[in-house]
Amino acid sequence: MTKADVYDRLANELEALLGDEGDLVANAANCAALIFRSLPDVNWAGFYFRQDDDLVLGPFQGEPACERIPIGKGVCGACAERRETVVVPDVSEFPGHIACDDASVSEIVVPLIRDGRVIGVLDLDSPAAGRFDAADQAGLEKLAAIFLASLSP
Ligand code: SME
Repeated sequence: MTKADVYDRLANELEALLGDEGDLVANAANCAALIFRSLPDVNWAGFYFRQDDDLVLGPFQGEPACERIPIGKGVCGACAERRETVVVPDVSEFPGHIACDDASVSEIVVPLIRDGRVIGVLDLDSPAAGRFDAADQAGLEKLAAIFLASLSP
């Protein structure tokens, strides 16, 4: 099974799991749980949601994490500022990386853009260097799109 196959299956599972539910917290919680239990070599998967100029911790799976990240700071804040996915093969080489779990070595953060506005990010950490590639980016951006489409107006 290729990574693309895995993400196709996950996308179908996520659509079925979210169903007709439109609640942001409920759907983020199930999305984080599905990703965390389905992808290998991932030690943290979850959401930060925007409040003014900060990203505030949302539903996640993994070790407890920092609760508030200013837009522009860390990998998450950089993602929100750039409005594009950020893939970091080695977090020790990312200036300003915010370490929540010392086990994390690589990271990918996908922006959540709704009606042209960044409402949060989807963040995954891995204990393996270079864990996330273009296939992960495409797959996780698809999962983020399914999550966004599920939300009530
Ligand atoms: N490493 C992130 C902080 C969040 S944790 O990885 C869960 C960052 O630099 O923004």
